Order: sequence, then C-alpha cells, then structure tokens
Amino acid sequence: MQNAILELDGHSLITSQLISQHNAEVGSTVGAEELTEHAAKLALILDLAYQAFEKRQPAATIVDRLALRLHELRKQARPEVWQQLIPLAQQHRVSEHLMQDPFTRWSFEKPRGYSGDASLLDIYYKHSSADEIVSSSTPLGREIYAYTSDAASSEAGRERRTILAKTVDETARRKPEAEVLAIACGHLREAELSDALATGGLKRWIGLDQDPVSVAIVNRDVSAGCVEAVEGSVRGLLRRAYDLGTFDLVYASGLYDYLPRAVGVRLLQRVMELVKPGGEFLFANFSDEITTDGYMETFMDWPLILRSADDMWDIIKSSVDMNHVDAEVYYGANRNIVYGKIRKRP
Ligand SMILES: C[S@@+](CC[C@H](N)C(=O)[O-])C[C@H]1O[C@@H](n2cnc3c(N)ncnc32)[C@H](O)[C@@H]1O
Repeated sequence: MQNAILELDGHSLITSQLISQHNAEVGSTVGAEELTEHAAKLALILDLAYQAFEKRQPAATIVDRLALRLHELRKQARPEVWQQLIPLAQQHRVSEHLMQDPFTRWSFEKPRGYSGDASLLDIYYKHSSADEIVSSSTPLGREIYAYTSDAASSEAGRERRTILAKTVDETARRKPEAEVLAIACGHLREAELSDALATGGLKRWIGLDQDPVSVAIVNRDVSAGCVEAVEGSVRGLLRRAYDLGTFDLVYASGLYDYLPRAVGVRLLQRVMELVKPGGEFLFANFSDEITTDGYMETFMDWPLILRSADDMWDIIKSSVDMNHVDAEVYYGANRNIVYGKIRKRP
C-alpha cells in the first residue's frame, strides 16, 4: 500500500494504468476465447459509431448510444477482460472523430501529465477559462462537446462545485471567522460561487494541491486576501509535513476517486486531526451508478475508483470512532456523485 501512496501523489503520477490495476483483480488470467468474444462485441459497437459519424448522424445520438453500449459491455466483461479491451477501443478509427471533442481530447492527451487535472474540470464546468479551447474546436468537436459536457456525470460535477460553495457558506453562517481547507483544490472554482467569500465572512480558505500550476492559478485568479493555495500532497498530509492548524471545514472533491480504500481511510483519519470540535469533513466520490464509465475509461483514458453509499460508509466507519462523530452519506441530484460528511462532536 505504501507504493500506492507514493505513486498517487507527489509528482502528478495519477495514471490511468494505476487506477486500472486497482480496478482489475490481481493474478486473474484471460482466455483467448473470452477475449475474442468480447473484442468482437467491442468492434461492432465502434464500427457502428464510426459509420454513424460518416453518415453525419447527430453527434449527441451517436455518442449517447456509444457510451451506453460501452457501459453495458464493461458490465458484462470481467474487469481483466475489460482492461484488455481499452487499448483496442483507443486504437479504433472512430477515435479520430471523438478526439475532436475538446473535453475528450484534453482528458486523453493529459497536457498536465496526469488524469483529471483542474483544466479538464474547467472544460466541463463550462468555465470562461476554457472558452478558447472549445471555440477553437471543429464544428463536429463542438457538437460532441455539447453532449459530453451535458452528460449526467458532467452535470453531477457541476453540482458538486455548487455543493462545495454552499457548504463553505453554511460553515461561515455557523461559525464567524470560519477557517476552511480544500484538499486537492485544483483551481478552487467553487470560490467564485461562495457568498461568504464575497462578503468577507471567512478568516481563511486554504487550498492544497500537488500541482504547482493549479496552485499558481488559484493565487492569481482568486483575489480575496483570505484565500491562499499551497503546494502539498496527500502523502505530505499523511506524514504531517505541513503546519496547517485546524479548520471548521475540510473537504476533498475529485480526490477520493483516485484513492484506494486503505489510503482513503488513512487520509480520513489524518484529516479528522485537522478538524476542530464541531467542525466537518466533506468528501465526494463518483458513484458506481454512472453510465459514462466505459466511455471515460476508453476514449478519455480517465478511469476512476467508483463508490457506492456502502463503500463511503465503509471508509467512514473504518476511519473514525462513530461515538465521537455524526456522519451522513448522500447522493447528489442524479446519483452520479456520492458524498460523505463527518461532523466532529464539540
Ligand atoms: C479532479 S481535480 C479536482 C479539483 C477540485 N477539487 C474540484 O473539485 O474542482 C483533482 C485534483 O486533485 C489533485 N491531486 C490528485 N492527487 C493528489 C494528491 N495525492 N495530493 C494532492 N493533490 C492531488 C490534482 O492535482 C487535481 O488538481
């Protein structure tokens, strides 16, 4: 497990390979017949999508159908088989069409060197900083983007941003001069939606992220004096490498999706040391009910560790003494993201 911690942070090494290894069962082999059968199903799905593009059918219909079929195939295939199908999909000629979508392309190419960077989120947040990359795409690319950026998982991601801002605002109402920590803050875009920040209701809002580019962007874009982004990683947090003080609210969004259970448990244990009595920790995870998983893992090369409400409870109950906290687990509106909230009793 130590290796997982070392590889998952420090130097932007969130690789699709690492998450895929987590998702597949260790030591299980794949028979030639089983692989051939599933590869044939995949080829059919991709050929149909390719032909539909050639016939100029609406991009939304093509990608919607494609994503659902990949989701079904992913469910049918054993994880080890699915892992072998991913490169086959990526090499298929239909990707020439799909890569015109700026969202799919950015995710696949990983300009920051790792999966799920904050600029990728800006693309599906429809943030103004991503306007140029969208407007400079081909007409087909923009048509596909209109679909991918409005897919249920993208909607859930945008809702997550709103939920984060509301949680910060609630904390400020509950506690004057509130202190907030965002772990894996990315570009901290939720700060733009926070009333508490706009009205001076916070003492400090610290963002921690392993990516120095994201840290610099927060410190450039968020003008409020109480906001500060600092470079730091999950590994550093676990090693108590930073002198951060304590907080009324700590949250982690877009992070647990990359953390194996054991690292998630250790992080939660460590985070509770940073939460003041009466304070809260909120963490989010894409749920195992999403249907874009097959498309994300193939054409976006963006695998996530998906979790159910039970998985979230398992992490919580394995991390904290339930006699000293109040906890809840809930889904966002379309159940594509699941949230865990732990309140340390005063
Ligand atoms: C999907 S983005 C989420 C950004 C932001 N929290 C949001 O919800 O919009 C993931 C962020 O996690 C950061 N990250 C990933 N692994 C990390 C680690 N081990 N330590 C610190 N930051 C990490 C990445 O640099 C990236 O900015």
